[in-house]
Amino acid sequence: MATEELRRVAPDAARRFVEGVLVGNGTSKADAEIVARCLVEADLHGVDTHGTNRIPSYMERVRQGVLDPKANIEVKQITPVVHQVNANNGFGFLAATKAMSACIESAKVFGIGMASVKHSNHFGMSASFVRQANRAGYMSLVFTNSSPALPVWGGKSKLMGVSPIACGAPGGDKGIDFVLDMAPSVAARGKIYKAKRRNEQIPDDWAIDAEGKPTTDPAAALEGSMLPMGGPKGSALSIMMDVFSGVLSGSAFAGHVTSPYHPRKAADVGHFLVAIKPDLFMSLDEFKERLDYLYQRVVGSDRRPDTQRIYFPGEIEAEEAKKREKNGITWTQAEIDVLNQEADKAGSPHLVLL
Ligand SMILES: NC(=O)c1ccc[n+]([C@@H]2O[C@H](COP(=O)([O-])OP(=O)(O)OC[C@H]3O[C@@H](n4cnc5c(N)ncnc54)[C@H](O)[C@@H]3O)[C@@H](O)[C@H]2O)c1
Repeated sequence: MATEELRRVAPDAARRFVEGVLVGNGTSKADAEIVARCLVEADLHGVDTHGTNRIPSYMERVRQGVLDPKANIEVKQITPVVHQVNANNGFGFLAATKAMSACIESAKVFGIGMASVKHSNHFGMSASFVRQANRAGYMSLVFTNSSPALPVWGGKSKLMGVSPIACGAPGGDKGIDFVLDMAPSVAARGKIYKAKRRNEQIPDDWAIDAEGKPTTDPAAALEGSMLPMGGPKGSALSIMMDVFSGVLSGSAFAGHVTSPYHPRKAADVGHFLVAIKPDLFMSLDEFKERLDYLYQRVVGSDRRPDTQRIYFPGEIEAEEAKKREKNGITWTQAEIDVLNQEADKAGSPHLVLL
């Protein structure tokens, strides 16, 4: 079979596969279910760069002893609305999920809850925790810092992370949630890897080479740095993620977070999460009607000639998730082979294909 041929996997089978690998590496069943849900949620929403294919790099870090698959995630209440989470070098998915749960519990009673997370790891797609809050009926902010990938504006070497800024609000009866989840770079790094695989050039505003010069060569771009979106504004957003997630939490910051692909050093990522009750100032019905009115105004806006349809933030991903829920997630045979090697190492079952 050609390696590029796409094979289909049902979301349930993907979740069972991830859980098997994690349990085989020492993670409890309950925690493995949370990590699997987050990774497969990214695959379902079309964020393939932050889904199940990350398992091999995470497991390599587990084998090297720099990510603890059994870590006890400690949640300490500092004030009625403030929580401090020590991930103790466990999975970022667990730390952020537990932090958001604590935020929601506070918001139920006091209208707002916030959590600062330290000593964590890469948590994948930020929207996982925004959607966790949306499902519970709460607005949210989800910030994280990450390893150096961007120069600061005017700088030449990587210093700040491509650290995503995310937030959300639960939708009305039509079920349209607001979900913004964006990295502060012009383009996702995954798009540069894709251009390299296909021998394509990239636009010259995506990245700079190792000498700090704009480049259209994806290989040179990967040797160099990503460029922030919106010039100094993207750079400032990346610094903002580091202030709230790194400086505040006590985790690494200012270029000292370790890459999730680095096999020999703890990552020490920090996160910052907030949950807000949407009916603080009006009834829930009125809030949802107002959000729906905003949705209708946005998607019903007059279109430019080159635009077929206008989307609300998060809508493209939500529609992709509906399709993939039904038709399955697609991976190449080569990707499946790499994942099955992880199952062999963990003594867990291979991926079951549709
Ligand atoms: N954990 C980490 O350290 C880390 C680092 C980088 C990126 N990520 C993740 O990578 C993912 C991809 O980030 P990205 O910046 O490439 O996302 P993106 O550019 O695909 O989307 C960014 C936002 O814009 C919205 N959007 C995109 N196209 C739209 C359109 N045509 N109309 C209306 N809205 C639209 C999306 O709904 C989304 O909210 C995110 O899930 C992010 O959390 C994680």
